[in-house]
Amino acid sequence: MGDTRWGGFGYRQLHTQFTAELPVPNAIHFYEPRDGHRLPHDPFNAIVGPRPIGWISSRSAAGALNLAPYSFFNAFNYTPPIVGFASVGHKDTVHNIEQTGEFAWNLVTRPLAEAMNQTSAAVPPEVSEFALAGLTPVASRLIAVPRVLESPVSFECRCTQIVQLQAASGDKLPTWLVLGEVVAVHIDQALLKDGVYDTAAAGHVLRGGGAADYFTIGPEQLFRMRRPA
Ligand SMILES: Cc1cc2nc3c(=O)[nH]c(=O)nc-3n(C[C@H](O)[C@H](O)[C@H](O)COP(=O)(O)O)c2cc1C
Repeated sequence: MGDTRWGGFGYRQLHTQFTAELPVPNAIHFYEPRDGHRLPHDPFNAIVGPRPIGWISSRSAAGALNLAPYSFFNAFNYTPPIVGFASVGHKDTVHNIEQTGEFAWNLVTRPLAEAMNQTSAAVPPEVSEFALAGLTPVASRLIAVPRVLESPVSFECRCTQIVQLQAASGDKLPTWLVLGEVVAVHIDQALLKDGVYDTAAAGHVLRGGGAADYFTIGPEQLFRMRRPA
């Protein structure tokens, strides 16, 4: 891998060909996060992005419905499929999953972006974000938590682990990583082209950085590259 900090020259090239006249390195903004980033916005979220959004529905033991977006979200295993998200703070979603062991993941597409945003409102646990955002809870097949009818793809998940994160010092952080096995999948058949899931046609919404940046993707962003044999 070339070290782009050095104007694109690879490390080996640098030391075999340019020992006499070293290129001037690009200016680097360096910081240690514990001392602050010294920028108008923390770049971390913009760099590790755009990220898929975990739009997580859950239900309390008493039956109250909950729906909230989590962009610290990703897939972690193929067989069985496992997804996970991190709650910064012990939020209602984590509390519900601790109680019931179940959650559903719902895909956010461009027409659903504003509704997704509304479901991030800080409301008391007894207020359903489904109602708040005008969304329809529809019964899942294997779990007691409903999925979002308006979303074209949903996963029914059973919680496998809830891990409280810790810093390199070993200090516990107020952040919980919730992992769940995907036990059932719902896909709108319109997104299956000759049986292949069409990511670009689905119009996934992805979270960027800053206070308000999102991205969506279309066929223009697609390129293909096979792994080396
Ligand atoms: C696009 C988006 C992504 C978010 N990602 C996260 C996240 O990864 N972790 C987190 O703790 N909160 C995240 N939030 C904030 C939560 O959605 C918000 O705190 C919500 O009220 C939590 O709901 P709950 O208490 O019902 O679980 C995000 C909000 C938005 C709009």
